[in-house]
Amino acid sequence: MKKILFVCLGNICRSPMAEFVFKDLVKKNGMEDEFIIDSAATSYEEIGNGIHIGTRKQLDKEHIEYDNHRARRVTVEDYQNFDYILGMESRNVRDIIRIIGSDNENKVCRLLDFSNNPRDIADPWYTNNFEVTYDDIVEGCNALLKFLLK
Ligand code: 4NP
Repeated sequence: MKKILFVCLGNICRSPMAEFVFKDLVKKNGMEDEFIIDSAATSYEEIGNGIHIGTRKQLDKEHIEYDNHRARRVTVEDYQNFDYILGMESRNVRDIIRIIGSDNENKVCRLLDFSNNPRDIADPWYTNNFEVTYDDIVEGCNALLKFLLK
């Protein structure tokens, strides 16, 4: 069983998009029973709130299913419970490590660190461009799965 936690600032735009894109990818590869996949926030801003309409519209457009996910904050326990804790940008990685204390087991990095072009994923909360975010997340999820299957 591989356990993956996607993390962003609010857990309403990018990390739930990554959660449901990766769930879809894993399902299409017939491996849904081999993964636990979740998402969480570094901030308290949106705790309890649902997925942002921009993310939902983008997932609808791509025919990717999602559920009634509610934003939650990453916890110290998450560090023990998950194998990979993947931020969307460098700031998320810094904040995750601040929350969990230290990353002794090297579980924390950016999603796009698995790609051939490691970089941050821009926050559509500010850019309002959910398409670019989606393309980056698909690239990251494909690269992550390829890495995990090696
Ligand atoms: P996310 O976007 O980190 O991709 O979920 C944001 C959502 C909410 C806020 C910031 C970013 N906020 O400041 O409330």
